[in-house]
Amino acid sequence: MSFCLVGTLVMTVAKGPRYKIGRQASPEEIRSRDISVAPDGAGLPAGHGTAVEGRALYMAKCSSCHGGRGEGTVDFPALVGGRGSLAGDRPVPTVGSYWPYATTLWDYIHRAMPYQNPGSLTSNHVYSLTASVYEQHHWTTRKSRSENVARNKDAESARLLG
Ligand code: HEC
Repeated sequence: MSFCLVGTLVMTVAKGPRYKIGRQASPEEIRSRDISVAPDGAGLPAGHGTAVEGRALYMAKCSSCHGGRGEGTVDFPALVGGRGSLAGDRPVPTVGSYWPYATTLWDYIHRAMPYQNPGSLTSNHVYSLTASVYEQHHWTTRKSRSENVARNKDAESARLLG
């Protein structure tokens, strides 16, 4: 009995509109929603971008929430840091700690960001922003390295003076 019911349902769906509401989506509407990008890059549109271009866009469209270097703000998440923290008591999920594919980052930025206006970025903008978010990880490393150098220099001066 239940087998027959399933068969009827499938046939009803296959037959098309039953309630006479809505309409068939146009090819353009389907195209505009068919935006998934797979980890291997399948689905990526043609386009290009650079981290330098992305940096300017990031400052204009993303930094108010994610901070100038991706460090996050009081209300919004960080995009950098947290590497190696996932298995610990305080996992810090960021692009740096758990986004292994640039293609997934591209897809996410394209479909969901900026938070208040998703879908507003062109493909080239998203290529640039993806490059820029990865570049932030180098800024962070570079910054902490230069801070360490500064600290060591201070320690060295203190030793010399003392
Ligand atoms: C108005 C604030 C706001 C702005 C502006 C904004 N974001 Fe976000 N972003 C968020 C919030 C909130 C989340 C978390 C969303 C969630 O978890 O559902 C997020 C999540 C993300 C994540 C995923 C972080 C993670 O590890 O899960 C990325 C990547 C990201 N944003 C990139 C960007 C980029 C690039 C821009 C600029 C084009 C941008 N965001 C602009 C608020 C913002």
